[in-house]
Amino acid sequence: MKPFFYVANWKMAMNLHGAKTFIEHIQQDSALKKAFATTIVLCPSFPHLYPIQKQLLNKPFALGAQACSAFDNGPYTGQVSASTLAECGCTYCLIGHSERRILLKETSEDVAAQYRQLVINHLTPIICIGETAEHWVAQKTLAVLEQQLTPIVHASKDNPTECLLIAYEPVWAIGSGRTPTPQELTVIFSWLKDFIVTHQIAGRIFLLYGGSVDEINASKIKEIDNISGFLIGSASLDFQKFKNIVL
Ligand code: PGA
Repeated sequence: MKPFFYVANWKMAMNLHGAKTFIEHIQQDSALKKAFATTIVLCPSFPHLYPIQKQLLNKPFALGAQACSAFDNGPYTGQVSASTLAECGCTYCLIGHSERRILLKETSEDVAAQYRQLVINHLTPIICIGETAEHWVAQKTLAVLEQQLTPIVHASKDNPTECLLIAYEPVWAIGSGRTPTPQELTVIFSWLKDFIVTHQIAGRIFLLYGGSVDEINASKIKEIDNISGFLIGSASLDFQKFKNIVL
């Protein structure tokens, strides 16, 4: 059975005490620990990775970073390399989140360079893609997704990876309480499935949905064909809400 991924993107919203308490809750929760075919990936902010890794040691939860540098080493003040993330115990890393594409002007080519660094350092990339409200209204979603994924297709030829996660997150759905309808998601995920099959980007690829996933809508979205996980922002900050999404 394919695993279902629950990736918690804590952004800049969780302090170290909150993160440690959250993890203690997970570790003490027998139902969560026994959840079958479930992979939980926690993505705290950079300085919390190392202390959290110690807490997660030998536990069935994975650690992910929220971003990584496109460079391997050198004079890049404030950036964090993929090899450093690996040293801190990360096995996953988000790249291409729309907040970085928009606020930091990261391009799809930058994201492909970050992808290469992750693959070289044996981390599993979680590539975020998604259209703005303007593109959604203009029905340009699939064209935007293709444009965002094409540099990854090229990068994957030289740097193939065994496992890859792609998170479709409409920018207008993030933090807004709005999501596409199940019918709309069915069309988009079926297109994504065809795209990855055609281009053979990785050995195993899991497609995730992100954008206002919560306790109410999760079970419906989970039933949609080709969705193998969630990328969860605000609802992942509260242990009980997160647990209700997973179970
Ligand atoms: P949200 O955030 O769940 O709060 O909409 C998702 C994300 O930005 O990854």
